[in-house]
Amino acid sequence: MAGYVVVGSQWGDEGKGKIVDLLGTHMDMVVRFQGGNNAGHTVVVNGKTVILHLLPSGILNKDALCVIGPGVVVNPFVLFEEIDKLQAQGFDCSNVRVSDRAHLLMPYHKYIDELEEIDAGAGKIGTTKNGIGPCYADKYNRIGMRVCDLKDWDVFKEKLKVILAKKNRQIVNLYNGTPFDYEEVLAQFEAIRPRLLPMIIDAVDKVNKALDAGKNVLFEGAQANMLDINYGTYPYVTSSSPTAAGVCEGAGVSPKKLDRIIGIAKAYSTRVGEGPFVTELNDEIGEKLRKSGNEYGATTGRPRRCGWLDLPVVKQAVTINGMTDLAITKIDILSGYDTLPVCVGYKIGDTVYDTVPALISDIEKAVPVYKEFPGWKEDISECRTYEELPKECRDYVEFIQEYCGVRICLVSVGPDRKSNIVLNPLI
Ligand code: GDP
Ligand code: IMO
Ligand code: MG
Repeated sequence: MAGYVVVGSQWGDEGKGKIVDLLGTHMDMVVRFQGGNNAGHTVVVNGKTVILHLLPSGILNKDALCVIGPGVVVNPFVLFEEIDKLQAQGFDCSNVRVSDRAHLLMPYHKYIDELEEIDAGAGKIGTTKNGIGPCYADKYNRIGMRVCDLKDWDVFKEKLKVILAKKNRQIVNLYNGTPFDYEEVLAQFEAIRPRLLPMIIDAVDKVNKALDAGKNVLFEGAQANMLDINYGTYPYVTSSSPTAAGVCEGAGVSPKKLDRIIGIAKAYSTRVGEGPFVTELNDEIGEKLRKSGNEYGATTGRPRRCGWLDLPVVKQAVTINGMTDLAITKIDILSGYDTLPVCVGYKIGDTVYDTVPALISDIEKAVPVYKEFPGWKEDISECRTYEELPKECRDYVEFIQEYCGVRICLVSVGPDRKSNIVLNPLI
């Protein structure tokens, strides 16, 4: 039996979707445990590109049960849009299940997210404007609508009436926005309810029974450690815990059942939205990385900010997640540089730190301490064994392993399922 976890170790978009899809072919179940449709996971199979937002990337393996877990915030309208689109592309989506305990991301959450970003002005977070923060805020404020509420229509109607009145007061009085009409919102949910009801399950029971029966279960993280609500660059973070600990909370699984914790690290750094970024390159090198790496947001289409690899960031993720393995992605994008600087410390005043400080103004002050690596010129996208990689590339990979103190299980050299060099088999 094995509980597998895939988590991001930087600011998201490391290629988690690709690795989940790769492992997904061996899985009985793939489970999302946090976040919502702020995620954008790109999977390329046989030349077909699929972007998943709410659905687990295991969906492309028709034998795996895909579970949207209790810790996820679910916009059911987006969910059905995504399913319809995938089905039109020829993928089977009959194996999707939604936890009864998951929270519903309501139309007012998305609207409040947009209003709050406008209201914040220059202090905005740069969210995906999908309502993620406002939905989690309501959850913790105990005024959330849950998926299971849809099972009892009278309960749903009554709860919505009370909560919507409260939300409308917030929208009108705080942001001078347009209130929602109760009957209209109710009608929207009444329309999708028959389709959602058969998909609702007790996910905690289902996932634990699968693990106890010796099945392979993969927990798919969205976002990443630096966007974690507790350990990221707060407040420039998302509103959930995209860590291995988040699996236990968000899927109802004991830490004892997690066998492999696989972190994904891009060979350089990217970030979407606002917030400090010590190794950011606001020059032609940053532009080159963005172009060659096709670094544009899979959810919002925004250009991703690019920079050199920041190892204090990755190491912190290794520690917090207790990673057993690290997969390095997009190293093919680093071909063609004379030197590759890698950040090994943050110099703040006279002190060099190898951890990320809590205070944003400290991170903003930090000067990256770089160790320079000689680059390589060869195109490595067709390499399939470690020995085929240029020595300079292997030195780069081995330094990451040494600095972070975690074994590298895989090096990814292209977006396709086949473009991998496996160093330590995961299955
Ligand atoms: P996720 O959010 O972590 O799943 O990552 P995204 O899908 O948002 O972004 C990663 C992008 O890089 C996607 O377009 C992938 O198809 C692509 N990708 C993943 N691994 C590799 C790789 O090793 N090389 C290249 N060139 N592209 C990759
Ligand atoms: P995947 O799963 C990259 C960022 C947003 C913003 C911050 C808060 O594809 O790696 P939110 O809408 O969550 O309240 O926005 O988090 N963000 C991501 N950045 N990849 C993601 O997901 C992200 N999900 C959220 O850009 O800075
Ligand atoms: Mg992404």
